Amino acid sequence: MAKFLVKGGRLLEGEIEINGSKNAALPVLASSLLFKEKIEIENLPNIEDTKRMKELIGKLGADGKIDYEIAKKFRASILPVGGVIARFGKAAFPHPGGCVIGERPIDVFLDGWKAMGAKTELSEGAPTGYVIAAPEGLSGADYTFKIPSVTGTEALMMTAVLAKGTTILRNAVLEPEIKYLADFLNANGAKISGAGTATIKIEGRSGKLLEYGAPFTAPPDRIEAGSFAIMGALLGKNLRIKNFVAEELPTFLALLSNVGAEYVLEDNVLIFKDAHKKTLRASNVTTKEFPGFPTDLQAPFTILLTQAEGQSLVHETVFEGRLNYIQDLNKMGSRITLCDPHRAIIYGPAKLSGRAMASPDIRAGLAFIIAGLIAEGESAIENIYQIDRGYERIDERLRNIGADIKRI
Ligand code: EPU
Repeated sequence: MAKFLVKGGRLLEGEIEINGSKNAALPVLASSLLFKEKIEIENLPNIEDTKRMKELIGKLGADGKIDYEIAKKFRASILPVGGVIARFGKAAFPHPGGCVIGERPIDVFLDGWKAMGAKTELSEGAPTGYVIAAPEGLSGADYTFKIPSVTGTEALMMTAVLAKGTTILRNAVLEPEIKYLADFLNANGAKISGAGTATIKIEGRSGKLLEYGAPFTAPPDRIEAGSFAIMGALLGKNLRIKNFVAEELPTFLALLSNVGAEYVLEDNVLIFKDAHKKTLRASNVTTKEFPGFPTDLQAPFTILLTQAEGQSLVHETVFEGRLNYIQDLNKMGSRITLCDPHRAIIYGPAKLSGRAMASPDIRAGLAFIIAGLIAEGESAIENIYQIDRGYERIDERLRNIGADIKRI
């Protein structure tokens, strides 16, 4: 099994470009089901999750069956279900897999499809699966999310595009990925308004498929952007991060300034001149839906806080299993008290030493790389499939800016 060997102590210098966004590209890939013909995506990140999505869609037939083995590998496997039900009137799929960061139910999806006229049953046998059917077709509905969900909003939006009549989705999330998907679908004939606000209106096409006309260009990945910025704040010496879209990380940047990291933004290039010399201050962080602090940056930011002077509180409000990596971090020398599944207190600064660990999920895996880069000695990070799910050739790209990281 491949692993990363990371040696600490090197400063990061030069230029790194942010790749196409995973979480913007995945729903657009899934939306290909709403089209008569092939769609084109530019700047698609070549990562394990986009490969899995392509495999999943490639295996789909008119029977609406989603491949169980593939779907178990990533949460976003639920995204194509939205189009499958709308197109074929039925879908069979397993409970989606993916990062082990909490319970991750799918009730809001099922409630939404039910509101549009579909019936769900649990399929027999293991693993747990669902069979959804809408023999009389799907009709637009006025649906309010009891919990705002990113992929839930995306999946229901896709179903509504082919349903009959108008759908209104209320308490929808405001994440930029929603607007990217809506803009792409609208450029190809859909009628969606309000994406990026809490109320989205979709005029359904009564089963009429979209006709492809305009390609999608994946925007820069805002989570990769934030992660590189954290590396810059810790180790940057004339480090330039290209394609940085500040509007997509407002709270993150406010907190980065609050901890005392020094950066300048020049025409979408985020520059860390002598950041490694700065003393960082403790700060409290609460994860929230957009425009709040993204849960996907919580683990990398915690690594930054281990180097800040004083006591920081990290409050993870989105997922209940997303502080699981802290035990490993403490074995590296951090001083973090886990209060409960949602809150951790970090006492800094702490000297970290390299050690062996396994990547628990995409984002904590990247956080371990950052920890390895600032630690004394060598860290070995296993289970790097998790990291490769979200970051393309991360080892090579970090080596280009001076990091000592090897894939063996
Ligand atoms: N939730 C429910 N019921 C549902 C759906 C969600 O209770 O039916 C809960 C979840 O358990 C969670 C909260 O609602 O507590 C929010 O979850 P959400 O559904 O918004 O998350 P998601 O759509 O499964 C996407 C990203 C995640 C990111 C979250 C939050 C994609 C493919 N995934 O997941 O990204 O953390 O939104 O921003 O877009 C990652 O990229 O590493 C990743 C985990």
